[in-house]
Amino acid sequence: MFRTKTCGELRIADAGQSVTIAGWVQRVRKMGGMTFVDVRDRYGITQVVFNNETDADLCDKANKLGREYVVQITGDVEPRSSKNPNIPTGDIEIVARKLNVLNSSVTPPFTIEDDTDGGDDIRMKFRYLDLRRPAVRRNLELRHKMTMEVRRYLDSKGFLEIETPMLVGSTPEGARDFVVPSRMNQGQFYALPQSPQTLKQLLMVAGMDRYFQIVKCFRDEDLRADRQPEFTQIDCEMSFIEQNDILELFEGMAKHLFKELRGVEIKEPFLRLPWSEAMKRFGSDKPDMRFGMEFVELDDIMKGHGFGVFDNAAYIGGICAKGAASYTRKQLDQLTDFVKRPQIGAKGLVYARVEEDGNVKSSVDKFYSQDVLRQMAAKFNAEPGDLILIMSGDDAMKTRKQLCELRLEMGNQLGLRDKNKFACLWVVDFPMFEWSDEEQRLMAMHHPFTHPKDEDIPMLDTDPAAVRADAYDMVVNGVEVGGGSIRIHDSELQAKMFEILGFTPEKAAEQFGFLMNAFKYGAPPHGGLAYGLDRWVSLFAGLDSIRDCIAFPKNNSGRDVMLDAPAALDQKQLDELSIAIVEPEKK
Ligand code: AMO
Repeated sequence: MFRTKTCGELRIADAGQSVTIAGWVQRVRKMGGMTFVDVRDRYGITQVVFNNETDADLCDKANKLGREYVVQITGDVEPRSSKNPNIPTGDIEIVARKLNVLNSSVTPPFTIEDDTDGGDDIRMKFRYLDLRRPAVRRNLELRHKMTMEVRRYLDSKGFLEIETPMLVGSTPEGARDFVVPSRMNQGQFYALPQSPQTLKQLLMVAGMDRYFQIVKCFRDEDLRADRQPEFTQIDCEMSFIEQNDILELFEGMAKHLFKELRGVEIKEPFLRLPWSEAMKRFGSDKPDMRFGMEFVELDDIMKGHGFGVFDNAAYIGGICAKGAASYTRKQLDQLTDFVKRPQIGAKGLVYARVEEDGNVKSSVDKFYSQDVLRQMAAKFNAEPGDLILIMSGDDAMKTRKQLCELRLEMGNQLGLRDKNKFACLWVVDFPMFEWSDEEQRLMAMHHPFTHPKDEDIPMLDTDPAAVRADAYDMVVNGVEVGGGSIRIHDSELQAKMFEILGFTPEKAAEQFGFLMNAFKYGAPPHGGLAYGLDRWVSLFAGLDSIRDCIAFPKNNSGRDVMLDAPAALDQKQLDELSIAIVEPEKK
């Protein structure tokens, strides 16, 4: 046998056994006549001891080992004289009898430890070494466990796992497509799926009833901490269901995952918050509800007192940070700088402290009487010691979003966003459409296959912007972890939707003829949802970026620095594809 034990499993009860382990050399320490070698594999670390007095040659061999050498060691398990309570194998050591060096290693570019000295770029370039670090490996183990639990849960609910193709046609879902040239169909391109949306709907027409797939999706969009150009969805679709059935089933799945993977009991049913209310109370369609600090609108009370900024604003709103009246002038200036950053783009911030005697001291005292300021503070139920922060602007939606950023920042600063606390909710009743300045037309907020709310269908002709959809997102701790909708299953309603979205009948037929045709053959009422697997894993692992739970992620410029991709093609490949490269203009 190559090995009889892993490096993670020996305990005091194993003392006296002869064992063989194999793994990588974590470190070598010489102490007097002894040499200690820590050997690491996926399962843990075991200390091996070589004694110069009993076997000088063997000890000499051990002294020559370098970091990350691959070794096979046979010896006897013995209790340690100085135990290490920090590792599960810390009660024992192996007294070596045989050392087989299986491979050497050049010195790794960073230390293979949880607290590594390697920066981000170097770790990504040598990702296979980074993955040897227990902290990163644990994220992949969690990811594996999650997909196992997802399959178990969905299988128990009658879902079939069905694969859909990766080489498909382009479908508009908000982002740009990654495209793949076809050699056999010169001048034509496949697109990699942004999601299997239309295919899963066709599987419902095909009578599959309940489908799921743990599937790679590709979107050419700007990257952020919670976005990768290729990511994984837990994609699901069901027939003969209503919105509530879907919410209940996937709430059940969330509860199952929390219990199995985090040991946390989540209370059901989740809050169901209409989109319009989420925007009004939190300025976000994915509110972090681990803490309150809800928006209070102040237009009525703060207007008409001669403070021009507020008098001319379309929206004035504020938040109350409990106990933060102790913020210094410097801290308040930093908050003002925070909201003025280009990413947020606010013009400024007004603050008011509630003092011990109940007086309210604000940065705009000269425009407001104490009476008005006290009335304002009362709207927040503010108490002595609280800090009120107010923002205004000429675009209500924009200002709410800015105030949302401030709320999240205050949540961070006051320690209200505990990674071990979870607040789950559904945001429901999204608008069907949103206006695109870039395209100068209405766009589907979710996607063009989303069913409008029945009661809003008459408004499709009169006021489409006001139509709400049977669309929902699941939000946990301010992260959109999934989203879906009830779909249109009627080809006429689908055609109308394309018309509102500005498609001519010809264009709609060209792009979506396959779907509209299929709907003529008895499409069942259906709907579904997709969870973002990467976001779930990083939420459970407490990560700041989804990159850390992906084995080989892309960097912020969409590059794989290890594989050095994307890269230019050689001329022969380009010729085969009939592709000529036009040098991009230098910016
Ligand atoms: P949506 O576009 O909302 O819906 O995507 C579903 C979920 O996928 C995750 N997600 C991402 N994760 C990482 N990187 C990305 N670039 C990224 N983009 C999305 C999010 C999101 O909630 N076809 C529909 C689903 C449906 O209607 O059934 C869809 O793709 O967690």
